[in-house]
Amino acid sequence: MKKSQLLLSAGLALLVLLTGCERPPIDSVQHGFRGTGMVQVYNPRTMELKAEENVVPPSLPALPGDGPKAGQVYKNVKVLGNLSVNEFTRLMLSMTSWIAPNEGCVYCHNPANLAEDTKYTKVVARRMIEMTRHINADWKSHVAETGVTCYTCHRGNPVPNNIWFKEPEQAKGADFIGDRAGQNLAADSVGSSSLPSDPFTPFLLGNLDIRVNGTTALPNGNRHSIKQAEWTYGLMTHMSTALGVNCTYCHNTQSFSNWQGNPPQRSTAWYGIRMARDLNKDYMEPLTSVFPEHRLGPTGDVPKANCATCHQGAYKPLFGQSMLKDHPQLAGPGTGLDKTTLAKK
Ligand code: HEC
Ligand code: HEC
Ligand code: HEC
Ligand code: HEC
Repeated sequence: MKKSQLLLSAGLALLVLLTGCERPPIDSVQHGFRGTGMVQVYNPRTMELKAEENVVPPSLPALPGDGPKAGQVYKNVKVLGNLSVNEFTRLMLSMTSWIAPNEGCVYCHNPANLAEDTKYTKVVARRMIEMTRHINADWKSHVAETGVTCYTCHRGNPVPNNIWFKEPEQAKGADFIGDRAGQNLAADSVGSSSLPSDPFTPFLLGNLDIRVNGTTALPNGNRHSIKQAEWTYGLMTHMSTALGVNCTYCHNTQSFSNWQGNPPQRSTAWYGIRMARDLNKDYMEPLTSVFPEHRLGPTGDVPKANCATCHQGAYKPLFGQSMLKDHPQLAGPGTGLDKTTLAKK
């Protein structure tokens, strides 16, 4: 081989190796205690793009809460009755800009009769108002005082950018290569890895144990195994990509199962997992019969939420900017569930 040919093939080989890498520059920030190697890796270019995506839209000016109540003036108001007519109208306008800026009021209403519940979107929206209040009042262990509004998930779209459905059996299942057992194909849901592609059904709808370190001897009742660990890793990969962080944002990777010396973010995440289960079970699933067929998944299930539905690639949704403070009407009332009742759930 000539020298030039050799150089060319070496160059090509290098190119192939490097296409899997991100283009520099790369920044890293120390996150854990010194010496633990707990570092967050950031690419300033991606950060710039993310900052643009997370600009908070301006709020309408606040209106006085006195005067007649919506419940007295309107015909069919079931959850917003305590708002003044002013506050009620302001919320309808905000909801329109958060959910259906192009379609307007008619996305949820029959313009000839605003009291009517004929559009499924209105029925869903009413339950969404209750869900948003429940998150803000009863899940402060996760959302703190920052809270959420419809915009956190919807961002100006009727269907949020990140929703999930159960995988149909044939997509998980056996083909001529053998039984894939729900994995072994690159999947977007788990950061293009070949981990189990639907870790949501067992962990964010069901409440299967996420821990993989067994505490008793095999096999008696100990379901911990390498196969189970792959499902846990599927969920963890989703959590990392949904927040745009590395594993070390929550773990001291010296021991994944150990909670000691872990950043507080891990506890916040623990509550986040319980919150996602609660939203999917108590709010989304009961809406199944309300949604039209074309909105349902391949197995006829309702669209559901995961970490990405709110976070959308940011460590805190909208990088921690609170829209709730301008919309106290969405802060409560909750259902009165406190942490102790939740722990029993
Ligand atoms: C995302 C869905 C959605 C959009 C968009 C929306 N609304 Fe509503 N609207 C609702 C829901 C849900 C209720 C019932 C609230 C309740 O039960 O407390 C309601 C109730 C009303 C009522 C009370 C009707 C009655 O007599 O019972 C009025 C008036 C109203 N909306 C006006 C508007 C206007 C004006 C717009 C556009 C600027 C608008 N809405 C946009 C969901 C929506
Ligand atoms: C935790 C995230 C989250 C929050 C907060 C949230 N939603 Fe939703 N919303 C969803 C998901 C998930 C769906 C199902 C998507 C679909 O319809 O396919 C949905 C669906 C809807 C739909 C039906 C859209 C359609 O075309 O099918 C409406 C209307 C709606 N939401 C209104 C609201 C309103 C109003 C608020 C605030 C009071 C709100 N949502 C807050 C997650 C959220
Ligand atoms: C946003 C925070 C967060 C991120 C990021 C995260 N984890 Fe986790 N991880 C948790 C929490 C919380 C638990 C405990 C879940 C539970 O018990 O319900 C956990 C549990 C685990 C477990 C099970 C430990 C045991 O007790 O057996 C493993 C393994 C694990 N994570 C690996 C990873 C890996 C690998 C990554 C990166 C791809 C990662 N995690 C990223 C929060 C996180
Ligand atoms: C309903 C919307 C919503 C969902 C769903 C959600 N989060 Fe969050 N999360 C938030 C909000 C809002 C905050 C900011 C709270 C604050 O300001 O302290 C937050 C904060 C966090 C933090 C703390 C970040 C920090 O640097 O302090 C972690 C970690 C986190 N979420 C992980 C998760 C994980 C993991 C999931 C999925 C299992 C999840 N979240 C699902 C809304 C959500």
